[in-house]
Amino acid sequence: MMHTKMTVDDGYFVEERSAETVIARMRDCDDPRLKEIMAVVTRKLHEAVKEIEPTEEEWMKAIHFLTEVGQICNEWRQEWILFSDILGVSMLVDAINHRKPSGASESTVLGPFHVADAPEMPMGSNICLDGKGEDMVVTGRILDTEGVPVAGARIDVWQANDEGFYDVQQKGIQPDFNLRGVFVTGEDGHYWFRAAKPKYYPIPDDGPVGRLLRAMGRHPYRPAHLHYIVSAESFTTLVTHIFDPDDPYIRSDAVFGVKESLLANFDRVEDREKAQELGFAGDWFWSVNHDFVLAR
Ligand code: BEZ
Ligand code: FE
Repeated sequence: MMHTKMTVDDGYFVEERSAETVIARMRDCDDPRLKEIMAVVTRKLHEAVKEIEPTEEEWMKAIHFLTEVGQICNEWRQEWILFSDILGVSMLVDAINHRKPSGASESTVLGPFHVADAPEMPMGSNICLDGKGEDMVVTGRILDTEGVPVAGARIDVWQANDEGFYDVQQKGIQPDFNLRGVFVTGEDGHYWFRAAKPKYYPIPDDGPVGRLLRAMGRHPYRPAHLHYIVSAESFTTLVTHIFDPDDPYIRSDAVFGVKESLLANFDRVEDREKAQELGFAGDWFWSVNHDFVLAR
């Protein structure tokens, strides 16, 4: 009997129609979304392999890399998210899921250093508990897209210190909940607190993702930023940062989290009297101002 090449799927593997054969095998899948996702992933993956034409050694290297990414994960370390972050995929998923009405503040990645139970503090509190770093006062308003102040908005902030470390990375060195706080706006929608100017820092780079970054000729740094989660009843919760526009890494964030609208004003204020009024020991301080606009 002659074995002729068939154009319809016969279940046999042929390089030219490799993806189609794999996709056709899902004919009994009763989850349409899973079927769609796996068809796209299969098609794109086969396309990539056909373009790359990896050697078997290269393919095993990729398998070992992915194995290590999984192995280094624990309760505190999520290497898969880091992998997604450095490929810009986390920011893309965020963008797709948080398309905002015009005028609303833009979102960015949450990152691994948020702590759920940071203390609520009176407006104006100093969240820098160890007195290290350059004094900074942060002010702004929470508004709706019409410019009306939002009362009762909850502002959860966290940031790295003047050496680029979060408290959770330096347990026993920094006080617990250093440079974290929750503030609730009054009728005027204003918020303000005191802190210390954050510094740029590397994402956790002692694992396979850090090695990959170096191999790709990339650095692991994120420009200095303050994290915010802003929430209020009947508004969409905003997960975002504000950035220091003068940071050396502002245009090369390792995780692509910077958007132009998230650049804040970091002004150096040389005013001894004002510094004293704010309870700062020096005769100058950083003043940061940024308003957030929530979408309904
Ligand atoms: C952060 O900003 O805390 C962060 C975000 C993504 C990866 C690592 C750190
Ligand atoms: Fe951060």
